Amino acid sequence: MFKIQVIKAGHRDLNTLNRISVASKKHWGYPDHWIARWHDDLTITENNLLIHHVYKLRLDRITIGFCEIRKEIDYYEITHLWISPEFIGQGYGQYLLNAAMQAVVPPGSYVVVESDPNAENFYRRLGFTTFDYVESYPKGRFLPVMKKNILGDLEKWPFLENKNPQGSKVILNPNKTGFELPSNFGLPLLTCSEERGPEG
Ligand SMILES: CC(C)(COP(=O)(O)OP(=O)(O)OC[C@H]1O[C@@H](n2cnc3c(N)ncnc32)[C@H](O)[C@@H]1OP(=O)(O)O)[C@@H](O)C(=O)NCCC(=O)NCCS
Repeated sequence: MFKIQVIKAGHRDLNTLNRISVASKKHWGYPDHWIARWHDDLTITENNLLIHHVYKLRLDRITIGFCEIRKEIDYYEITHLWISPEFIGQGYGQYLLNAAMQAVVPPGSYVVVESDPNAENFYRRLGFTTFDYVESYPKGRFLPVMKKNILGDLEKWPFLENKNPQGSKVILNPNKTGFELPSNFGLPLLTCSEERGPEG
């Protein structure tokens, strides 16, 4: 059995998180000079930790991904979502993003993301829809801009009617679309733990 946790990141995590973002972006096979040009977009600093919501995903004691959500005036934006390449495609991205959105985004809000084109279908799978495109680097490369109204999904999640006084303990649904028990909306620290068997 091993333990999955989603925990607010701290300054000691910065080097690890910045290594993960670069390795994860390289997963799509982009040339090194594009990766170098994107360096600032792939880097988080102390400021990100102070101003925005940054959560790391740990498998036992190993950090295997992270996510950053920013609060804008009338919506929330996913500005980082990275899973280490060796763990891509095993359900961790969905787990991390759902846990982070649950911690940060109040029901009724919109969440927006400028997605990597290769990740567009991942976000679609999670209920996001594309409503625009923005040009990125290099010229002629466009990123889908996607959004999701959180209320729609949260309404389907049973924990809203079934508040658990233990608060921070959450259990992933068997179909991995949400959590069966409530989390602590709006609190600065969310710890989501789930025991999984060796087959993952
Ligand atoms: C995008 C990313 C975060 C997704 O995380 P992940 O752990 O690989 O995705 P999951 O395994 O949780 O997938 C969840 C669902 O989305 C689907 N999915 C995931 N990535 C997909 C993709 N690139 N294209 C189509 N479907 C995808 C999965 O099949 C799964 O569907 P299912 O529930 O029917 O089985 C991860 O692939 C990653 O870090 N990629 C590199 C960096 C990146 O592009 N980050 C996003 C920046 S906007």
